[in-house]
Amino acid sequence: MELEAPSTSTSNGYLILLQGLSLIPFWHYLLILTTVLIYFLYNFLEIHFLEDLFSGFSGSPVEFTFNSSSQLYHAVVSKCRILHSTYSVTPWLSSPHLQTVFLNFFGNPPVFKYKRQLFTTPDGGTLALDWVTSSDVSGNALNVDNVVTKDESTPIVILIPGLTSDSSSPYLKHLAYHTAKRGWKVVVSNHRGFGGVPITSDCFYNSGWTEDTRTVVNYLHKENPRAPLFVIGTSIGANILVKYLGEDGENTPVAGAVAVCSPWDLLIADRFISRARVQKFYDKALAGGLQDYAKLHQPHFSRLANWEGIEKSLSIREFDDYATRMVGKYETVDTYYRRCSSSTYVQSVSIPLLCISAVDDPVCTTEAIPWDECRANKNIVLATVKHGGHLAFFEGITASSLWWVRAANEFLDVLHSSHYMHEQKKISTPNTLLDSSIDQGPYINLTGDGMVAALNNEPTTDSQKKYR
Ligand SMILES: *[C@@H]1O[C@H](CO)[C@@H](O)[C@H](O)[C@H]1NC(C)=O
Ligand SMILES: *[C@@H]1O[C@H](CO)[C@@H](O)[C@H](O)[C@H]1NC(C)=O
Repeated sequence: MELEAPSTSTSNGYLILLQGLSLIPFWHYLLILTTVLIYFLYNFLEIHFLEDLFSGFSGSPVEFTFNSSSQLYHAVVSKCRILHSTYSVTPWLSSPHLQTVFLNFFGNPPVFKYKRQLFTTPDGGTLALDWVTSSDVSGNALNVDNVVTKDESTPIVILIPGLTSDSSSPYLKHLAYHTAKRGWKVVVSNHRGFGGVPITSDCFYNSGWTEDTRTVVNYLHKENPRAPLFVIGTSIGANILVKYLGEDGENTPVAGAVAVCSPWDLLIADRFISRARVQKFYDKALAGGLQDYAKLHQPHFSRLANWEGIEKSLSIREFDDYATRMVGKYETVDTYYRRCSSSTYVQSVSIPLLCISAVDDPVCTTEAIPWDECRANKNIVLATVKHGGHLAFFEGITASSLWWVRAANEFLDVLHSSHYMHEQKKISTPNTLLDSSIDQGPYINLTGDGMVAALNNEPTTDSQKKYR
């Protein structure tokens, strides 16, 4: 074999090569190494700074997916200037990973305080509703008597947080602050066990838990019958929102909604996040967040789930297997993912819904976006942007604002001044003597002046309460 007994001429060749290489100055090697490293990082982090530079930071346009006969698109979305301009990323954050990581570790959130309302659900659960009104963010602390908040027709925007987020998360603070700044009332509907409140019932929230959203929406509608209700869901909150809208169809007092960076299909999302090395980093980080949440409520999780399993969970899937599916009483994790995916509910959404997603979202993959279903439902407009990361979309040289926050607010503003806001329809009493076949569900009679009146005595769920 040649390797065992190299001929003298071969070893001489290597010797000469080695001598030659040793003549090259050390810093040249360093330079090559650095270049390779930068090239690797540039690709690994999906940095697009050079592309942005060559295009003069002109930004990426928004692509729309909608049914060609969608009034929502033609009458509302087409009038939204922000959606119809381009999104230019903050130059030093020109990577989905840099954006997402920066959002979660720094985020540049605005400074303000929420007013907390503790809300008890019919099953005894506790939710922290964190309110912000324009007087809280006007910077005018002495503004004692606020006229705007007293106006009964001021819209209320309900925010549903993502998986391990609550009202203190930077992206929700951006959203809450800027929405309140427009003069609207904002309330973050924190998930059970989040925002520092204890768990007080054996019902836990999960990615498909729509009951709390339904309860809060109906409660707020009952308390403020004249105020248009809007809902903005983010990430898992967007999945919950779309599932809720699909489940309830026409029978919701929500006038319009925005779903931002939804995972859509939890099964695909699960496969995606455990596939590539860079995604596993997010998987682990999110699992850590879930473990922190579980630790806050250890007695409950120890009793209802597998505590040892929770402690050693390194991925969302493991956590869901040892905790979420057990508490939620799903046979397997995949059953849980299948049942809780919002993509199957898209077809039943019956109110104006804008969906915003980034194509480079490193957590919620575009593979899961139900393009065809969105195209088939004329109540939905899907806006996708090439860059943005997960819930980030930073813009400006100081990364002081989030593009999707502005886009969502403008959409709701235009919708609010249009004729396309959803109104819960008046439905005739399910009177068997008359045409019972027409009545499909809602038990509410919306009269001409917008007041809601009670109609019958058969609420199927707690949410479908009668109004007096
Ligand atoms: C658009 O909606 C109509 C019904 O409203 C439907 O028949 C049609 O297939 C939809 N278009 C697409 C591309 O899905
Ligand atoms: C709804 O209520 C109004 C007044 O309360 C009543 O005049 C109207 O007939 C009701 N509509 C239906 C469909 O029952």
